[in-house]
Amino acid sequence: MLEKVVKNWGVTTTYVDIDDITNFEAAIQPQTKLIWVETPTNPLLKIIDIAALGKIARQHNIILVIDNTFASPYFQRPLDNGADIVVHSTTKYLGGHSDIIGGAVVTSNQQLYTELKFYQNAIGAVPSPFDSWLVLRGIKTLAVRMREHEKNALILAKFLAQHPKVERIYYPGLPSHEQHQLAKSQMSGFGGMISLELKGGFAEVEKFAARLKLFLLAESLGGVESLLCYPAKMTHGSLPDAERYKRGINDNLVRLSVGIENVLDLQADLENALSGT
Ligand SMILES: Cc1ncc(COP(=O)(O)O)c(C=O)c1O
Repeated sequence: MLEKVVKNWGVTTTYVDIDDITNFEAAIQPQTKLIWVETPTNPLLKIIDIAALGKIARQHNIILVIDNTFASPYFQRPLDNGADIVVHSTTKYLGGHSDIIGGAVVTSNQQLYTELKFYQNAIGAVPSPFDSWLVLRGIKTLAVRMREHEKNALILAKFLAQHPKVERIYYPGLPSHEQHQLAKSQMSGFGGMISLELKGGFAEVEKFAARLKLFLLAESLGGVESLLCYPAKMTHGSLPDAERYKRGINDNLVRLSVGIENVLDLQADLENALSGT
């Protein structure tokens, strides 16, 4: 989108390593209009300090957009922390049942709202009534689903963290996560997404995925049923290898979207797949 669509309209993008927030300030140019960040990020579940970034954006008169898809509004409310706009893929937790594709843009700024509303009407990015109805119906159970996603994810993250076939785990709810304290301070929960690196290479990942019976292989996330994907070949397959490795998305990385099934069944599924039975 940024490189193949909006670039043709004269909009350029500078990419920033979010591990160090000072990188944002250093990347700001006179023509910079907008900062766009996911937190937690896909797929490595990095966390950025929204309030600190909001301060930088305000000092430079730049709009701050937070993609809140992974946390959902149940666990994170970026507008309260200084973001100007929040975006969601409603395909994920808001819909919650992997049966629609959609997005939402949220703002409390009247001027931005009026501009966005005009563009939506003029350009036509309008969801169908049926898709909208499914998202609204999904939102009615968002709170109970999110609590289950998180409860299951925490149990599975702890299980995976101590498993001998797992090299590394990424879950902001574990104290071992580098930004656990930051996550704790700006989120009211850690969500249902876990990423892990398996010992070995891509062949191990393929075997693991083939042995799983409850976690289905699919690119999406945030639905009631558990899914897994391997970012190197799926969501991030279009990145050149060197760029992908630079971003820490290795061949042995697996991303789990933990559903709301019985957690003992999910744990047994992972255990069987890891131990090769
Ligand atoms: C954090 C995040 N934002 C946005 C999207 C885009 O969602 P959609 O496929 O519904 O356009 C994704 C898709 O995986 C995502 O992970």
